[in-house]
Amino acid sequence: MQIYKVGGAVRDRLLGIPVTDIDWVVVGATAEEMLAKGFRPVGADFPVFLHPKSGEEYALARTERKSGRGYGGFTFHASPDVTLEEDLIRRDLTINAMAEDDQQNLTDPYRGQHDLEARLLRHVSPAFAEDPLRVLRVARFAARYAELGFTVAAETMELMRQLSGSGELQALTAERSWKEISRALMENQPQVFIEVLRECGALKVLMPEIDALFGVPQPEAHHPEIDTGVHTLSVLEQAALHQQSLAVRWACLLHDLGKGLTPEEDWPRHIAHEHKGLKLIKAVNERFKAPRECQELALLVGQYHTHGHRALELKPSTLLELLQSFDVYRRPQRFEEFIAACEMDARGRKGLEQRSYPQADYLRGAAKAARSVAVQPLLEKGFKGPELGEAIKRERLKALKAYKEAESV
Ligand code: CTP
Repeated sequence: MQIYKVGGAVRDRLLGIPVTDIDWVVVGATAEEMLAKGFRPVGADFPVFLHPKSGEEYALARTERKSGRGYGGFTFHASPDVTLEEDLIRRDLTINAMAEDDQQNLTDPYRGQHDLEARLLRHVSPAFAEDPLRVLRVARFAARYAELGFTVAAETMELMRQLSGSGELQALTAERSWKEISRALMENQPQVFIEVLRECGALKVLMPEIDALFGVPQPEAHHPEIDTGVHTLSVLEQAALHQQSLAVRWACLLHDLGKGLTPEEDWPRHIAHEHKGLKLIKAVNERFKAPRECQELALLVGQYHTHGHRALELKPSTLLELLQSFDVYRRPQRFEEFIAACEMDARGRKGLEQRSYPQADYLRGAAKAARSVAVQPLLEKGFKGPELGEAIKRERLKALKAYKEAESV
């Protein structure tokens, strides 16, 4: 049997990027031989094994044909007579379809090195269409390598357009899609992921709520970029520049969905978009089974981001409601993430990227004031049950009034 390094490890070494994960392909072996050497099989039908010591993935060279829809619909053909070239041709991109032996000799039948130099994300062959998830993968690689100057090849974009129009994307499982979406959001230029999906028509299929924001105007006074879709991409870009968490980035992406529902005659104003957007945010959250902290934060940011912007004008009672909604006493970190998302929203506007956001410290101060209310003295006064709750609230309100007064001098 011959063993080669493949995929991302070869690509990233040639790009001069540190390699973390190594995938291997094994040519000329059977599953039985792998088991006899102590490799552990992954799943029942997959010709993929884990190395007994390193735990790295070793896949038998395979060709694959499709039967039926979606992931479970794959059938694999792995046998010792499948050549390295036959295995590589069914991979997604030419830059991912290179192999290297233990002497670092490169096998590059589909001109991956050429495309690395040309900064092109190009599919290897029509077999690309065997897995519609690759539409998301290409968009993710575009987001990751945008800073190196990579773009999607025209013919690959065309194929992605066909796949997006074919109904195949709907068959992807939530888990597979979320894995790509969440990884893409954590790249340096996550806005490129959304742009590429939009360009090939996949955004309309996967997240029509975001697609609908393009072409929707906002008032120029607050939004010099005017377009809501453009604004959303800028907010996401800011979130990446400021190295925000996945939950913050997800909330940034979804914060303005309600603006896509405003009747045209009301443009460019979007009255109550925060509230109207909630059902859309919920739908997107559920479609991809986003993790709980992402779902929660997206809904809270959707509902309260304009409160964040108006923080300095809020009445103490409204401030208190905001803090209660976030359960800031038990979940201080979540409130910090809310503040971060609001700040990214404020900066994700044309020409305002460097603006200061005094609301952030003001909100932190308010949270601190409300949290400083001690429960013990109230217990000692004999408050219990709902009365205790009311007494705590009264004290917190007092603290917020004092805070607001002190801040306004
Ligand atoms: N691959 C593919 N189609 C997929 C998934 C994977 O063709 N849907 C192939 C590609 O050749 C890829 C390799 O399998 O390079 C390894 O896949 P994976 O580990 O998911 O990606 P990497 O390319 O290693 O990229 P990353 O750096 O994102 O892990």
